[in-house]
Amino acid sequence: MFKIQTLNNISVAGLERLPRDRYEIASEIANPDAILVRSADMHGMAIPPSVKAIGRAGAGTNNIPVAEMTRRGVVVFNTPGANANAVKELVLTGMLMAARNIPQALEFVKSLTGDDESIHEAVESGKKRFVGFELPGRTLGVVGLGAIGVRVANAALALGMRVIGYDPTITVERAWQLSSEVKQALSLDDLLVRSDFVSLHVPLTAETRAMIGGARLKTLRKGTTLLNFARQEIVDEEMLLEALETGRLLVYCCDFPSSRLKGHPQVIALPHLGASTKEAEENCAVMVADQVRAYLEDGNVTNS
Ligand code: MLT
Repeated sequence: MFKIQTLNNISVAGLERLPRDRYEIASEIANPDAILVRSADMHGMAIPPSVKAIGRAGAGTNNIPVAEMTRRGVVVFNTPGANANAVKELVLTGMLMAARNIPQALEFVKSLTGDDESIHEAVESGKKRFVGFELPGRTLGVVGLGAIGVRVANAALALGMRVIGYDPTITVERAWQLSSEVKQALSLDDLLVRSDFVSLHVPLTAETRAMIGGARLKTLRKGTTLLNFARQEIVDEEMLLEALETGRLLVYCCDFPSSRLKGHPQVIALPHLGASTKEAEENCAVMVADQVRAYLEDGNVTNS
């Protein structure tokens, strides 16, 4: 019997891949063989020596002490691509919300008082106040051309946008295979200087921590919208506030409501919803359960 500890709610669709006659699954369990986790932070957690595998139902592994686990011989699995469509859809939502002033317009409507007649009068002033702009012809810079970045790039192309991409970890040829219409930026700074929207799709690593800092924010075009559905720490929030104040940055749309940014009028902050769709949760859970099962039963590593 294999014992599996679940640290977060892992979709039932995934747990069903682990037959109950061979798997005992619980959120608290002694001597687990494997741990399934979503976003719970495992740094500093006592991980029992019985653990042979950790399955992260998601793409990022920054919530797992991967180096330490690797030293201990624990295999860490993740699920690249399994939630990419969900993230892509939210990035598009963020872009459209920013371009059409949707958060402000919703606030405005909620604040209206009085009878229908006075509300209708106010609607006219709202129409004038919240004039937006359209996406065709605007340039989106996609930083990171992995499963999510490429999907975002293709979706933006379908909306009539120009797309430029930058990814230091893949060759230009590979990027072109992934998305032939995406123009390659020469460097991150080159991408920033040419984009109306910038969307970040890189994992959090020592190299990407605070990658968008003061100097880089100064290279943005005036009026840029920055979308961060990757990780909060990739952007230096202190410097970002300055960029918002100077107008260089028009909107910061992110999936992390930090205390210093969440109330800012030019910030659209969501509570880490990128991968929160029924489909993405199921895809990630199924993929990670299959990976852990293949490893525990046959020693097969299908992704790590
Ligand atoms: C990811 O890294 O894919 C997301 O953080 C997944 C999640 O929201 O759990």
